[in-house]
Amino acid sequence: MAALLEVRDLKKYFKTGGGMLHAVDGVSFSLDQGKTLGVVGESGCGKSTLGRTILHLCDVTSGQIFFEGEDITYPTRKQLHRLRENMQIIFQDPFSSLNPRMSVSEAIMEPLILRGGMTKADMLAETRRLMDTVGLAARFENAYPHELDGGRRQRIGIARALSLKPKFIVCDEPVSALDVSIQAQIINLMLDLQEERGLAYMFVTHDLSVVKYISDDIMVMYLGQMVEKAPADELFNDTRHPYTKALLSAIPIPNIHNKKKRILLQGEITSPINPKPGCRFMARCRYASPECAEPQVLEEYAPNHYVACWKHKSIS
Ligand SMILES: Nc1ncnc2c1ncn2[C@@H]1O[C@H](COP(=O)(O)OP(=O)(O)OP(=O)(O)O)[C@@H](O)[C@H]1O
Ligand SMILES: [Mg+2]
Repeated sequence: MAALLEVRDLKKYFKTGGGMLHAVDGVSFSLDQGKTLGVVGESGCGKSTLGRTILHLCDVTSGQIFFEGEDITYPTRKQLHRLRENMQIIFQDPFSSLNPRMSVSEAIMEPLILRGGMTKADMLAETRRLMDTVGLAARFENAYPHELDGGRRQRIGIARALSLKPKFIVCDEPVSALDVSIQAQIINLMLDLQEERGLAYMFVTHDLSVVKYISDDIMVMYLGQMVEKAPADELFNDTRHPYTKALLSAIPIPNIHNKKKRILLQGEITSPINPKPGCRFMARCRYASPECAEPQVLEEYAPNHYVACWKHKSIS
């Protein structure tokens, strides 16, 4: 059976004054129904752009995207309409993604209105069901976003994302802006919803403890490329790529209540504009040698464990 989502050699370049910025540069993966792909990597490595390109919030430079076996890389209007129902996004900052002049029920009802085909009464009933599903008390129906705390605002974002009954949701740092005490509540809500509805998530986060907790597979990105991907436990237990090693070295105890600081690596960061064909992590890698200037091949080191480093077997 075809995967729910399959991405093949996806590229998204942006034209800039200095040349082509390779925001996403040849990423491939597949994701089954009910599963979570965690995506990690430092700021600017292309995590959001990858999610936005898959959702067609920006156009594809090259590569292919399949949804339920159908090539949707360049969707027709009809396909796009269906994709808008099947694929949704939850943003990091629910405050800036919500219209401040819309009440809770108006915000949740909006996607239903835009899709059309339901009576006002049915939409209101559905809105109330959605509020209940995401744990928003009925008394907040007429409240405005600024009257609610961050956790409740993110519950509105989740209700909006769920309203058209999607199968796949890009979760772009959905808990990063929330208080630590609320993060676990929202993550557990999302896991419950996943189980009930068989949702597939692409979950972007900087928090490695969170990503380990929620992911089936984890993809590590560096400057637009996937440098390693593996089942979650294996990525932590048998880390291969030098960049992944550096990234994971900073978490002593996996604990979702433990907010992590950014990891700072030494060395110059390669520019994503017109990058050279070799390993993009080379300039910061302590194992680098001249051969690393050659293009790296993504190797299937173990079943479903991919590494893009020609010398990973010779380093410990
Ligand atoms: N619309 C755009 N036009 C030009 N460049 C863009 C655009 N969107 C993103 N970029 C560039 O693409 C690269 C990837 O950005 P992206 O936002 O996807 O990174 P990210 O991994 O999500 O980072 P963060 O962790 O900070 O959210 C960056 O160099 C960014 O400056
Ligand atoms: Mg981002």
